[in-house]
Amino acid sequence: MDGQSVPSSEKTKLMSYLDGMLRDDALKGKVILVSGGGTGLGKSMAAYFLTLGAKVVISSRKMDVLDKAAAELKASTNGEVLPLACDIREIEQVHAMLRDAVSHFGQVDIVVNNAAANFISPTERLSANAFHTILDIVLKGTANMTLAVGKYWIEAKLPGVFLNIVTTYAFTGSAYVVPSAAAKAGVLAMTRSLAVEWAKYKIRCNAIAPGPFPTEGAWARLLPGDLATKFDPANKVPLGRVGEHQELANLAAYLVSDFSAYMTGEIITLDGGEWLKGAGQFNGFDAVPGQLWDQMQAIRGKKQ
Ligand code: COA
Repeated sequence: MDGQSVPSSEKTKLMSYLDGMLRDDALKGKVILVSGGGTGLGKSMAAYFLTLGAKVVISSRKMDVLDKAAAELKASTNGEVLPLACDIREIEQVHAMLRDAVSHFGQVDIVVNNAAANFISPTERLSANAFHTILDIVLKGTANMTLAVGKYWIEAKLPGVFLNIVTTYAFTGSAYVVPSAAAKAGVLAMTRSLAVEWAKYKIRCNAIAPGPFPTEGAWARLLPGDLATKFDPANKVPLGRVGEHQELANLAAYLVSDFSAYMTGEIITLDGGEWLKGAGQFNGFDAVPGQLWDQMQAIRGKKQ
């Protein structure tokens, strides 16, 4: 079709970051396991994968939450969803989940390691058990999923894709979330290491490092009471807003789809410029008013 024959109303229809990005059926026939898929960003990614034709396994520890989420996802997308309870800290439970997923859908093609846990706290207030709890869920849990599914793919000679959800403070570190930062840094290292080691098995490993994306659970837990207004995360974002779930789902869908077949070992930041704003030495100069810049320019002018 040449440009002339496209109706002008079509030509001017603007795409938005709130829209789904990939074409219909981009994930048709794929079976995707999303840990922590019953709530928050995991559920949003699962919903978009279903819209694109995937079959999805959602897992978390709480069956009642999963059942409710599965019913909602089925109703909103008409897709096939299998809810499976699993504590990813326990390797036997991960094996059982994988067995159930394969016996229900025939195979698993993609894993999104999304399940996480976090305590926001001065580190000296954390017990060793509290610290280990976060390491166990985030790092050991992701390792359990990676070992179980990776070995299954290698043995069955199936290609596979891991997508790990990390965070920008996996590479910067962050005060007050030290166990999470340490665990996510481990997941990041695992992503890059296995991207190389398992490429020969046609297994790709990528990660997304999201900035602030509001979710009901994490937001209320990490920023209780009026903390959310006092420390409004949007204020720290150069682009001036928090992320929308569809934006993350778009990137996730691309990274698990065959459209990204040449990409592995990549950690993609999706944070509106948030972490870089904290990093650049003079980034605080946003606060300098125009008048002061004029004065500085005038002083410079005199010297020249
Ligand atoms: N801050 C600091 N320490 C905490 C804590 C908090 N908010 N909540 C629990 N702990 C400590 C406990 O006191 C305990 O340590 P102790 O035995 O030395 O007293 C340790 O952490 C384990 O607590 P427990 O409640 O037994 O852990 P759990 O395995 O039952 O549950 C979570 C831990 C993280 C799974 C649970 O809090 C949870 O479901 N959180 C929601 C998920 C989440 O955090 N998502 C984050 C998205 S960013």
